[in-house]
Amino acid sequence: MSINIAIDGPAGAGKSTVARRAAEKLGFIYVDTGAMYRAIALYLIRQGVAPEDKETIADRCAGADVAITYQNGEQVVSLNGENVNGLIRTDEVTRMSSAASAVPAVRARLLDLQRGLAARNNVLMDGRDIGTCILPDADVKIFLTAGTAVRAKRRFDEMIAKGDISETLESVEAKIIKRDEDDRNREISPLREAEDAVHLDTSDMTIDQAVEAVLSVCRQKGFI
Ligand code: DC
Repeated sequence: MSINIAIDGPAGAGKSTVARRAAEKLGFIYVDTGAMYRAIALYLIRQGVAPEDKETIADRCAGADVAITYQNGEQVVSLNGENVNGLIRTDEVTRMSSAASAVPAVRARLLDLQRGLAARNNVLMDGRDIGTCILPDADVKIFLTAGTAVRAKRRFDEMIAKGDISETLESVEAKIIKRDEDDRNREISPLREAEDAVHLDTSDMTIDQAVEAVLSVCRQKGFI
């Protein structure tokens, strides 16, 4: 039987960095489910679909085949055979992925892929609905979060470090608040803390401390 660790939480809580490092230390596969939604979003953008057009999103998403492989421990997301890792972190894709993730047909397309990976491998899977919906029997569930201002500042600092000065801290925060609201208020699989999840607020933690906190939860549960 494989061991499954579910990490859910809002945008910008540092989930992917923390989850990736924790998975590496555990020797588990890190599964970034957000990247799968982003790959479908890229497909829809290329098809010229508007984020508001839920009906066409539901129709067209059937043409997006998403696959996950690993190269040197890094998750590679393929869209109809093309490696799209370098194309899915734009603002446009972020907006479309949030809109598309509220469409049941899109979520249904990714369910088997996500459950299949977890059934075959020891995984640390991060997303919004992993502990509540995708892997309700996960061995360890963690809800990783941080205050809105902290998350906005982290995102803003990342952008500055990359030389991107296109936005103010205020506009980054406004976008995070909007995406949280959309992810929490959608009808299907909303972002929600599982009842049996351990709540970790990383507002005052460094990345190393957050990784240690995740590992410590796994140790306490007896799974590592
Ligand atoms: O984690 P991320 O920012 O890469 O996710 C992109 C979008 O995908 C996010 O707005 C919500 C959605 N998502 C989801 O609905 N369920 C998941 N398990 C992962 C992501």
